[in-house]
Amino acid sequence: MQVFSNKDQIFSVVDALKKQQYTIGFVPTMGALHKGHLALVERALANNDKVVVSVFVNPTQFNKIEDLEKYPKTIDEDIALLKAVNENNIIVYAPTVDDVYNGNTVSEKFDFDGLEFEMEGKFRPGHFDGVGTVVKRLFEIIRPDNAYFGEKDFQQLQIIKKLVSKFKLHVNIVGCDIYRESNGLAMSSRNIRLTNQQKMAAPFIFKTLKTAKKHFGTKSASKVIEWVTEQFKNNDILKLEYFTVADANSLKEVKRKTKNKKYRAFIAVYAGEIRLIDNIALN
Ligand code: PAJ
Repeated sequence: MQVFSNKDQIFSVVDALKKQQYTIGFVPTMGALHKGHLALVERALANNDKVVVSVFVNPTQFNKIEDLEKYPKTIDEDIALLKAVNENNIIVYAPTVDDVYNGNTVSEKFDFDGLEFEMEGKFRPGHFDGVGTVVKRLFEIIRPDNAYFGEKDFQQLQIIKKLVSKFKLHVNIVGCDIYRESNGLAMSSRNIRLTNQQKMAAPFIFKTLKTAKKHFGTKSASKVIEWVTEQFKNNDILKLEYFTVADANSLKEVKRKTKNKKYRAFIAVYAGEIRLIDNIALN
């Protein structure tokens, strides 16, 4: 398996593959790979001749320096996991910060038609400018036919689709289901930082989402929000940051349900200093 840390090198390797008419799939990640990431890679391998996986902890998308510093880095394990999936058809791009940012580690500013001001955008100012900056650069280096993103970060997925349409990028964006532990907890690179007690408590997040979905069948969005807020009130381990019911396209909070619209519930919870997010389709 080829591993590159230099954008010019990966650019020419991909260029040669494209000249041979190979289709290129792309899975951008921040590493500390888990089965959720690998499911994206498998999906990409099934639909493309070659798959580039980037492993890059992008500093500009972190709004808290401690979160960036504590973000797990496990590049050797990541490479071993990818090798075990498919040694021949995966190419890894694991650059340094300078390789991506050329000594100027700042975000571009984007207008994502308001998607960036909802949910994660409210609680992580600048986050989506950082995501947009790095993903746009990675697309320019890799020039994939298809790029794979998880619904785990549903708002990110919508923003990437918006980025592609605004900049008329020639890449097809594929959204992939959320991969969960058997207890329902959405897989995340941050999960390895959870203490045993937090790990035991965390499945409550998805359990609550599932019940919220049931309630949404008969109750108003605001009643469901009230109910979820109540569930977390006396939880000593999990602290609710937000729970919201939103239109799955505009991501705007729903005040009143309308027929034929797709709704989704979104949640962010702190376990100690570790922030966990999840979401569920409501209809
Ligand atoms: P990261 O958190 O490493 O996630 C990389 C990709 O894996 C994202 O598309 C994310 O949605 C997906 N993913 C993570 N956990 C998942 C799960 N449990 N099930 C399904 N998919 C999952 O998201 C990022 O990195 C960064 O913001 C990035 C796009 C790489 C830009 O820096």
